[in-house]
Amino acid sequence: MDLKFGSVCVRNPKTPFPYSQPHMEPIVATTTFSYDDPEALMEIFLGEKKGFVYSRWSNPTIEAAELKIAALESCGLKDDTGNPLMLKARLFSSGMGAISTLFLSAMKPGDKVIVQGNLYGGTNELLVKILSPLGIQPVITDLKQPEEVKKQCKDPGVKMIYIETPANPTIDCYDIEALTAIAKENGQLVTVDNTFATPYLQQPFRFGVDFVVHSTTKFLNGHGNSISGALVARDESFMDQVVFNYLKLLGTNSNAFDAWLLNQGMKTLEVRMDRHCSNAMAMAQFLSSHPAVSKVNYCGLESHSDYAVARKQMKQFGGMLSFELKGGLTAGKRMLKEIQLCQLAVSLGTVDTIIQHPASMSHVGVKKEIRKQYGITDGLIRLSVGLEDISDLLADIGGALDTVKN
Ligand SMILES: Cc1ncc(COP(=O)(O)O)c(C=O)c1O
Repeated sequence: MDLKFGSVCVRNPKTPFPYSQPHMEPIVATTTFSYDDPEALMEIFLGEKKGFVYSRWSNPTIEAAELKIAALESCGLKDDTGNPLMLKARLFSSGMGAISTLFLSAMKPGDKVIVQGNLYGGTNELLVKILSPLGIQPVITDLKQPEEVKKQCKDPGVKMIYIETPANPTIDCYDIEALTAIAKENGQLVTVDNTFATPYLQQPFRFGVDFVVHSTTKFLNGHGNSISGALVARDESFMDQVVFNYLKLLGTNSNAFDAWLLNQGMKTLEVRMDRHCSNAMAMAQFLSSHPAVSKVNYCGLESHSDYAVARKQMKQFGGMLSFELKGGLTAGKRMLKEIQLCQLAVSLGTVDTIIQHPASMSHVGVKKEIRKQYGITDGLIRLSVGLEDISDLLADIGGALDTVKN
């Protein structure tokens, strides 16, 4: 049966159990799997028969999450022949586990990857501190300038364009369709980090990308209680033969408990995202008219420079926004002291609202000139808007802002 997105979220993938089917996906907390028949085990080892052997390789609870993520990313999409699009997902120890395993699996020394300058800090550090010394070079490019991207893509060393959209913390959006078209003219791979949007709001495979990565720690889990990441791809044999080997040998696998928490979280993804989006839109509109605020970055506002791109590729505009205070760093610190309901923390995508100040928290290690170049001003505050009653959220943020208005 062709299920709609919300039904795919809620449904349990069937794991065969000997006596009766558990209604809810259980946690299969076991290191290894035992067999009565040595022949059967050998067939599994040789890849002739499907079965679980050792939980670093795979595990029923992890597989349940992988099947759901693949189903969500492909929900309603068709392949080139008009059949339902089939995707393969693997779950990792974290978003960084998924991203590092992808780069190591898909790229070799001498290869280059085109990236935006405002990547998630961990991905940027991975490229600079770990992959560059191994000969895999990032080429920082303005992904909003198609001519610039076309010029860089002519370099035969370029193997991949890596896009994070919407991006941290200014909620910049990049045109997945246009960038994929450029990459495909040159035979290059395209990866999208879909963490901020989730497959409910944005399905990059619709535009022909090769890979999607997620920090499932964020909106997919939604409750801030597990760390994991996902890599999703069209090419099943690449996932089974290459990515699986890297995951297995680097040990970047997930575990049954984190996968189970993720499975629970994903059941409510659609309803949570609807509320994240409506609360974030109301918050963005409120902030736009507050006298202490000089700028609001929310891609659902017509004033945002990437509103048109966001409208084209996203169903709604997500739960992430940032805003600049007229009073800069001093006002930022003062405001954060006044907050009562929102939680001051890094991370994002949880049921409750998380507030942070990039210049003194997540981006404190980034040079001031670089921060300025990417709009991360001293007075910028980032909000991951949660599911609280919007009137309480507006009262909390509004009350704190009133203390820093002139
Ligand atoms: C967009 C994005 N990608 C990847 C990551 C890394 O995810 P994790 O913390 O699960 O390793 C993060 C973490 O904040 C992120 O925001």
